[in-house]
Amino acid sequence: MIHTRDLSKILRIGSIETTVLQNVNIDIEQGEFVVILGPSGSGKSSLLNMIGLIDTPSSGELFFMGHDVSRLKERQRSNLRRGGIGYVFQNFGLIDELNVYENIELPLQYLKFSKSERQKRVTEVLSKLQITHIKHYFPKQIPSLQKQLVGIARAIVSKPDILLADEPTGNLSSACGNKVMDVLTSLNEDGLTTVMATHSANEADRGQRVIQLYDGHIITENIKNRL
Ligand SMILES: Nc1ncnc2c1ncn2[C@@H]1O[C@H](COP(=O)(O)OP(=O)(O)OP(=O)(O)O)[C@@H](O)[C@H]1O
Ligand SMILES: [Mg+2]
Repeated sequence: MIHTRDLSKILRIGSIETTVLQNVNIDIEQGEFVVILGPSGSGKSSLLNMIGLIDTPSSGELFFMGHDVSRLKERQRSNLRRGGIGYVFQNFGLIDELNVYENIELPLQYLKFSKSERQKRVTEVLSKLQITHIKHYFPKQIPSLQKQLVGIARAIVSKPDILLADEPTGNLSSACGNKVMDVLTSLNEDGLTTVMATHSANEADRGQRVIQLYDGHIITENIKNRL
């Protein structure tokens, strides 16, 4: 589903060059739950942004659902991104001026879904994540765990091919973080391909496969036997 070949990203700011990712080769197949584990600054977000078609590589190749997307223009990338990729952020990324229902509905408006289809989808996802009772609240009125559940609802409402989660529990207590991990695990068990970045080895244990990043390159890859 996602394949990278010698993917590298070099940032140039003035005369200073930083190697953010170096010759990264990963293969993510449909239905997997892959965790990208690494310390701060190891390149986890940069890699997710590349996979999520938010950023482009400096060199190397990236294939998304069989298409070479390494050198696509922004417009083509955003077309693929919308609907195809769900993104969950550490800081939730909700819009304060919209209530829970409207936050979740927003991606469907971008995708030009009809009002009745939007209503059907949002209602479905509110119920699936057990947050129907907070649909009229605004982000500032709800606790962090609920904010992240809304963030996940918004990411999956368009039924994306893949869910990318960048330190989704980073702003949560361990109990709330566990709950978010339970939700992500259950979505994956329903078939949603998931790639999550974390710096917590404990959390990484909950994925099926762990790719360890350090200074922008893969140091180990570990496939777990879940039986
Ligand atoms: N816009 C930028 N300008 C300068 N350096 C950047 C920029 N974005 C990323 N970097 C550098 O790229 C490297 C990787 O950053 P990245 O954010 O991908 O790491 P990370 O593993 O997600 O870290 P964290 O756990 O803190 O989120 C770091 O050395 C960082 O300083
Ligand atoms: Mg990061």
